[in-house]
Amino acid sequence: STVPVILSGGRGARLWPVSRELHPKPFIRLADGASLLQKAFLRAANLPGVSEVLTVTNRDLYFKTADEYNEVNRRRTDLGFILETEGRNTAPAIAAAALTVGERHGEDTVLLVLTADHLIADLDAFGKAVEQAAGLAGQGRVVTFGIKPESPETGYGYIEADGHDVLRFVEKPDLQTAREYLQSGRFLWNSGMFCLTVRTALQELEAHAPEVLAAVRATLAASNTIAGDGRYQIDLAAAEFAKAPDISIDYALMEKTHKAAVVSCAIGWSDVGSWNAIGELVEPDASGNRVDGNAMLHEAHNCYVRSHDRLVAAVGVQDLVIVDTPDAVLVADRHRVQEVKHIVERLRADD
Ligand code: GDD
Ligand code: MG
Repeated sequence: STVPVILSGGRGARLWPVSRELHPKPFIRLADGASLLQKAFLRAANLPGVSEVLTVTNRDLYFKTADEYNEVNRRRTDLGFILETEGRNTAPAIAAAALTVGERHGEDTVLLVLTADHLIADLDAFGKAVEQAAGLAGQGRVVTFGIKPESPETGYGYIEADGHDVLRFVEKPDLQTAREYLQSGRFLWNSGMFCLTVRTALQELEAHAPEVLAAVRATLAASNTIAGDGRYQIDLAAAEFAKAPDISIDYALMEKTHKAAVVSCAIGWSDVGSWNAIGELVEPDASGNRVDGNAMLHEAHNCYVRSHDRLVAAVGVQDLVIVDTPDAVLVADRHRVQEVKHIVERLRADD
């Protein structure tokens, strides 16, 4: 059987002011009313043969997360939660999921590690890719989902592929290297989703990141589990989990393992990394403006406006991103939306 594991811990600093510490990126609602997290949950729960979805997230986000799921969980898929006291990055989160699923369902169970805050437009193609990945996972491979790269993005992992085999996995290369990879035509972007059996996960963590596995084992041994009807919750022991190395699965395992495989897929994947990516989900009007909510525009061009409370009016402007929330407004040049993270850094420094 397959257990999807949703990792929900990213902060999404580039999507301020909608993304906040206690309302991070997965909770952002799109123009269709559903949040990124709800879409991620349904993507997982609707896969054939899935009867349980395990989520690893911070304990401060537990109620919010459960509320989001309950709103859409019509099939009454079982819900598991591993609750962190602090984010220790994806390697410890995946180790905790592997140990937990192994204990509950056995080491042959396939883990499908998914992100909480990406978009996948083509769900049929996604289903087929998962099926292929599960097959390779059953052969002991650590399967990644490769996306055809469009730009020399430095925030992604790069996979040098030869059929299903991975020749090299390079996490977040510098710009020069990313350009070379793009030009070579031999590399794919790592989508951040993985598929592997519990057995492979534990073996590979033991081989390449034994400190992570040991710290998470000790954490689980000291942690409380609450189990009820169709749900369980593990509150990770704070002192032990704090000792887990803060490292991502990409550095801890993917760059090192010899068992990596890749399923190259065209699934309409987006990591929704900026307001432009969210804006592109809204149909533009004749002037290229994209409006989500309440806006009145006069001679404005190529703007994205999001306002769910107040009316936003704009006159004679172009290439702006305007995002209104009850207590903060963002106005940015649409070519510079990546730099919103600098505002967030300053807000944190002022705290
Ligand atoms: N529970 C939990 N705890 N989840 C976490 C934590 C944590 O400490 N840290 C990150 N996550 C979640 C994020 O919410 C996201 O869903 C996923 O794990 C990936 O983490 P990111 O922090 O967004 O990773 P990244 O964007 O730097 O890089 C990864 O994703 C890229 C694609 O978007 C890598 O896998 C790259 O190789 C990949 O290209
Ligand atoms: Mg990310």
